[in-house]
This record gives sequence, C-alpha cells and structure tokens, in this order.
Amino acid sequence: MNDLFLRACRGETTTRKPVWIMRQAGRYLPEYRRVRSGHTFLEMCKTPELAAEVTLQPVDILGVDAAIQFADILLPLEAMGAELRFEEGRGPVFAQPIRSTDDIARLRRPDVDQQLGYVFEAVRQVRQALTDRVPVIGFGGTPWTLAAYLVEGGTSKSHGHLLGWSWSDPDGLRTLLESIAEVSIEYLAGQIEAGAQAIQLFDSWGGLLSAARWRELSLPSLQRIVDALQGRVPLIYYVNGGPHLIEAMTELQVQVLSVDWRVPLPEVRQRVGSRFCLQGNLDPTLLLGSTDVIRKQAEALVRSTPGPHIVNLGHGILPMTPVEHAKAFVDTVHATST
Ligand code: CP3
Repeated sequence: MNDLFLRACRGETTTRKPVWIMRQAGRYLPEYRRVRSGHTFLEMCKTPELAAEVTLQPVDILGVDAAIQFADILLPLEAMGAELRFEEGRGPVFAQPIRSTDDIARLRRPDVDQQLGYVFEAVRQVRQALTDRVPVIGFGGTPWTLAAYLVEGGTSKSHGHLLGWSWSDPDGLRTLLESIAEVSIEYLAGQIEAGAQAIQLFDSWGGLLSAARWRELSLPSLQRIVDALQGRVPLIYYVNGGPHLIEAMTELQVQVLSVDWRVPLPEVRQRVGSRFCLQGNLDPTLLLGSTDVIRKQAEALVRSTPGPHIVNLGHGILPMTPVEHAKAFVDTVHATST
C-alpha cells in the first residue's frame, strides 16, 4: 500500500510528501459532472455505488495519495430531522432553521446505522475497490460549523443568527452543539468501522470566533468528539479563516492540523511546535494560474515546510479549475523530494 499519507499523520517525515486535494471528488472533473448529470447531489450521496465511483475518480485521474469519501458534512443534520435540500447556485438550505431551545426540541437522536448507513456502505465499497492502493479518509463537520448551517438555514455572510444566539443564550447554543457532537461521534465511529483510515473534522466557520470564544463555545463539543475517537485512527482538524486560532488549536488532541493559505506553513510550524503533522495550504485560486506558477509555488511549499507535512490546498478546489492544473500540482509534489 501507498501509506505515505498515514505515515505523515503518525508524525513521520517522509522523503516524498503525500498530497491530496480538498473537494477532489467534485465538479471540476468532467467524469464527476457526467455521473452528477443524472442525479441530484443528495441522491449521489445516498447511492453507495455512485458515491464510491466518484470517490475513486481523483485517485485514478490525479494519482493523489489518499481518497476522501464522497459525502457531505450536513448529512447527520438531515438524519436528526432537519429537512435539507441543495439548490443550484445557492448551496445547502435548511427550510426550518434551529434558532432557540424550543427549536432544538424538533431535532431527534437518529438511529445512525439505519439513517446514515448509506455512507458506511459507500466506505466499504471504496475500501474494497481500492485494495489498499491508497488510504480512505472519512470526515464530518465540527459541531460549530454544522450549527452555522443549521442555525442560519444555509450559507450566510454575517452569521447574525448564530452569533446573536451565542451572546443571548450561550447555554442554549451549547446544548445544540452537544447534541450534534453526540450524533457526530456515532457517525464518525461508523465510518471508521466501515474502513475509514483517518478522519478529518471540517471547521469551515471556526474563524468567525476569537480565540477566547472558540475555546468557550466550540472547543468543548469538538474535544468530546476527539476524545471519543482518540487512538482509533489519525484525526485531522481543518479550520478556515483561523490564523488567530493557531495557538488555541494546539489544545485539541489531534494528530494533524490543517490550515488555509493566510499564514505560511513555516510560520505555522513555529507557532505549533513539532507535535503535529501539518496539512495544506496553497490558495485554491493558484490552480487558476499558469502551470509554471503552480509548479513554482508547489515546489516552494514542499521545500519550505519543515516536519511531517501532507500537501493540500487551504480550502476546496474550485469547480472552474482545469483538471490539467490540478494534475500539475499533484505531479510537482510527487517530483519534489525534501
Ligand atoms: O472533498 C471531497 O471531495 C469529498 C466530498 C465533500 C463534499 N463536501 C462534497 C460536495 C466534502 C469533504 C465536503 C465537505 C463540506 N460540505 C464542507 C466543508 C469544507 C468546506 O468547503 O468548507 C462544507 C461547508 C459542506 C457543505 C456544502 N456542501 C456546501 C456549502 C455546498 C455547496 C457549495 C458548493 O461547493 O457547491 C455543498 C455541496 C457539495 N458537497 C458539492 C460536493 C461535490 C457540490 C455539489 C454538486 O455536485 O452540485
């Protein structure tokens, strides 16, 4: 097996650095768009054969060193009873947002195996199809980021409902975060039992909070998930827009810290010490530039980042990215030894 990714997660410095791309199973691939053209996004998530097929596409097409299971962070919220749809051009929509303690009563504790078993089945199919070629990453959202969608009712600019609630009734919001954490623990454990070899926790909206408020509001429910999964597989914490959270993040007992492009990784390394593997962090828009620029930037990232490092973008690859550019990125990392 190509175990570069898992070795880096465990803290080994590998002579060739592993690389994968957030949102690698997605719309920039014509092969993905072909499968997607016959189905809604949620149908694809809920049909293990389709989810498995698009999970494998970037492994075959780009030659990345890990697969990430095709699914979505919002699926457990749907299982908790929040009606979810994805609208073209608008993204996820929760028709009935949760904005108070009374609203929380509308949510239920799901039978995770029964209601999210389609994800576990997809993971099993991916593991079987990969025959250990590369490891499979499972994932979920952090309670804070999942609440950001559930409370706002979708993607938001100001997050006024979420942040307003955090000031007016922090204990009420904490109750919501705890109930999301409980379901997340079962959901992520189910992915591990099905064969996921690492878990990434996406905190896309973690950067909304100051470090002090991140510790108070977000960290406790997140720490609960990390404690519950500790020792089973490597855990990756990804935060978007969180340069001010880098020191606070080190309080979380994960193996890998993944950050966006706003802080150079050599600086992140200095600020977090040698205990963590780092993941990231090229600007996704770099892949819209020329392949010359992509090669230079990728090579500089690989060479300048000390210690264990999983090369990736700082956020998801954009749908408009030419596949050849994604390939140039992966090929350059593979050709650059440290
Ligand atoms: O990375 C992968 O290739 C695996 C699959 C994956 C998806 N979503 C598939 C997807 C992963 C890891 C995610 C995570 C996810 N989902 C996050 C965290 C990462 C981040 O981007 O910050 C978030 C916030 C979501 C919620 C979500 N799902 C949004 C906001 C949207 C709409 C925005 C968009 O990009 O269209 C989605 C839809 C979605 N999830 C798509 C894919 C491939 C596009 C759906 C389509 O085919 O139309």
